[in-house]
Amino acid sequence: MIGNYNILKKISEEEIQQQVKKIAQDIGNEYQNREPVLIGVLNGVFIFFADLVREISIPLKLDFVRLASYGSKNVSSGEIELTKDIELSIKGKPVIIVEDIIDTGLTLSYLVRHIKEKEPESVKICALINKLERREKEIGIDYWGFEIKKGFIVGYGLDYNEGFRYLPYILSLEIKD
Ligand code: PRP
Repeated sequence: MIGNYNILKKISEEEIQQQVKKIAQDIGNEYQNREPVLIGVLNGVFIFFADLVREISIPLKLDFVRLASYGSKNVSSGEIELTKDIELSIKGKPVIIVEDIIDTGLTLSYLVRHIKEKEPESVKICALINKLERREKEIGIDYWGFEIKKGFIVGYGLDYNEGFRYLPYILSLEIKD
């Protein structure tokens, strides 16, 4: 127990790095000679993204977006706004959007629409964690590390009140407030 939380489950650094390597290998095989553009969704993705791109053994380019959500993100009416767009041109290029976690799917469904307006050659989705319990928007995920039914997940970029992001591993927490 740390503070007012119980740790229910831990995904270790080793388990994470094993999945990062697997995803990197799959992307490397699929995008040989195509120089994909990887787009990371800030802030949560920063550690996964940095680890992933360093494991991919083919040339690639990278950029970032940031989104803000207003109101309740748990309902479809939750407003999502892009607060930082990509700066590279992706017209005609193969794009991979990289997320730390997909939960309701609202962020990604907004982002995919936005990215497709820039006329890339293709758009694929990569997420370290695919969390299924609260999914509202159908999202086809092409590369993922872990599938989790439910739980409150922190660490390795993921936060609770901006804490825990720095941990090199992932914890599933029970909040005892
Ligand atoms: C998290 C995560 C995804 C989004 C997924 O970001 O990084 O971008 O939520 O949730 P959804 O599928 O329900 O839309 P958050 O808004 O917490 O910001 P952060 O990345 O700065 O932590």
